[in-house]
Amino acid sequence: MSVNIAIDGPAGAGKSTIAKAVAKELEFIYVDTGAMYRAMALHLLRQGIVPGEEAQMDAACENAEISIVYENGAQQVLLNGENVTGDLRREEVGNMASVSSARPRIREKLVELQRVLASQTDVVMDGRDIGTCVLPDADVKIYLTASARTRALRRCRELEEKGVSCVLEEIEADINDRDYRDMTREISPLRKAEDAVLVDSSEMSIEEVKEAIIRLYRESRK
Ligand code: DC
Repeated sequence: MSVNIAIDGPAGAGKSTIAKAVAKELEFIYVDTGAMYRAMALHLLRQGIVPGEEAQMDAACENAEISIVYENGAQQVLLNGENVTGDLRREEVGNMASVSSARPRIREKLVELQRVLASQTDVVMDGRDIGTCVLPDADVKIYLTASARTRALRRCRELEEKGVSCVLEEIEADINDRDYRDMTREISPLRKAEDAVLVDSSEMSIEEVKEAIIRLYRESRK
């Protein structure tokens, strides 16, 4: 049986950085489920669909084949066979993903892919509904969060490192909007699974969070 570690939490809590570091140390595969929702969102944007056009989203998602491959240990997302990994971090794609990920048919398609991956190999999987819906029997469940201000500061720093200027208040407002959408949607809203361990990374380093999760994993194996 494969070992599954589920990490859920809001945007910008550091899930992907932490999940990648944990996966590397344990020699598990890291599965970024947000990237799958983003690839689907990119597909919809390419069809000229805008947020709000729900019937069009449901129809268009049937023509998207999303798959995952690994290149030198890094996850690559293929959309109808094309590697679109480089396009997924755009703000526009993230905003569309936040809307389109509320469509039941889109979730159904991607959850199926996620379950297949987790059943085949040891994974650290991050997302919004991994502990609550995708892998309810995961060996370790973490709900990783941080204050909206801390997350906005981290995002601003990231953007500035790329030479993009930003207004902290705008980024924070964006984060709050996205949290609201992710937490209030009807299916699989973002919430902590009852048996997940809450980790607030506001005052913790990456190393500290990683060690805490690895400790929980080792305890779960006793
Ligand atoms: O983690 P991220 O920013 O790459 O995720 C993009 C969007 O996809 C986000 O608004 C929430 C959604 N998402 C989801 O609904 N379920 C997941 N398991 C992962 C992401």
